[in-house]
Amino acid sequence: MNQSTSPDRDGQAFSARAGTLLERLGAPAGATLVRAPGRVNLIGEHTDYNEGFVLPAAIGLEVWLAFEPWDRPRVELTSAEFGETCALDFDDLTTGHRQAVSWIDYVAGTAWAMREAGLPIRGFRGVLDSTIPVGSGLSSSAALELASSWALADPSAPRPAAPRMAAIAQRGENAYVGVNCGIMDQFASAAGADGHCLLIDCRTMEFRATPIPEGLSILVCDTGSPRRLSTSEYNTRRSECELGARLIAEREQGVKALRDVDAAMLSRNRSRLPEVVARRCEHVVQEDARVMAAVASLAAGDLDEVGRLFAASHASLRDLYEVGSTALDAMVEIARDVPGVVASRMTGAGFGGCTVNLVHNGAEEELRRRVLAEYPARTGLEPRVFVASAVAGAGPILAGDLTR
Ligand code: GLA
Repeated sequence: MNQSTSPDRDGQAFSARAGTLLERLGAPAGATLVRAPGRVNLIGEHTDYNEGFVLPAAIGLEVWLAFEPWDRPRVELTSAEFGETCALDFDDLTTGHRQAVSWIDYVAGTAWAMREAGLPIRGFRGVLDSTIPVGSGLSSSAALELASSWALADPSAPRPAAPRMAAIAQRGENAYVGVNCGIMDQFASAAGADGHCLLIDCRTMEFRATPIPEGLSILVCDTGSPRRLSTSEYNTRRSECELGARLIAEREQGVKALRDVDAAMLSRNRSRLPEVVARRCEHVVQEDARVMAAVASLAAGDLDEVGRLFAASHASLRDLYEVGSTALDAMVEIARDVPGVVASRMTGAGFGGCTVNLVHNGAEEELRRRVLAEYPARTGLEPRVFVASAVAGAGPILAGDLTR
């Protein structure tokens, strides 16, 4: 299927999906259903682990998990998507620091990190499914972590607020799964708000829900290209940024992370940085400023400026941060020529994955048509186009949700 228009928000599909999952579990009386959304980032790329700003939205592509708690210190979970059942014993969670080989490792990492944070966990048997395409950079792993955090949580302990829960899930991914990701994906999945994106300060963990302007849709275009080398390259970028911040801090007061560096400071110190590190720093410093400018422009309705900021972010990720690809460039070039497209750029870690597009209502079909017609001929790849509605963060699905 080439298009998906937020299947999770459609009333009937919503109930049918829930019914199928609960049936697969044997529809026990004590079953609970939780959901956790994927995310798309509007702007602010590779700034989160530099303690800067990001602007993601949780989207209506989601992981759903039906589960029944039990007294055993063990999880048995079936993935409807992969047709596979995996088990996890809490006694085996002692190791930490290992590489993920299977989807169950994200559940294990979350269980491990919750226990490390002093949160009691309990076992369950469950069934999960997902409408988030895996490997497309829409945070299927973060959504799995957040859904798992709800299933694993012992209800006798108060649940931490969304930012804290996001940090715990992130720690699981960093320390247990071996991906040095920032906080953005887990934060968006945990704290998303209906019809809004989130301006997140990744240092203080403060966030503000910011409305998606009336009359605009978010379209996500999947390039269908594998994210080669992404984990190792991602971890390398992060180390380069940390080195840059350390070298600048030798000469400048109060620099703890690239968040504290402005353009003048960077230019004073540029010759002291290895060339490649200087370019990474330049991207991060400018990208942080672009996030704040985009929030102001969206609020003021200055969509031309939003378009320029998205274009500058895309170019910077390609040229300075070097996480672009010819597939991502082709997707953005096609979108920019379509009337009604306000802004377009690569989103997420890069190295393949998706573009995010802000589009005037009514122009969605034309963008989809042009992408499906032109992109395969230019790249030899199969694209997918999703209309992404901004949705609330992870949590239980209540009986009332299923009857709307
Ligand atoms: C991935 C990471 C995030 C963030 C983005 C880039 O999605 O998981 O933490 O760093 O890349 O902005």
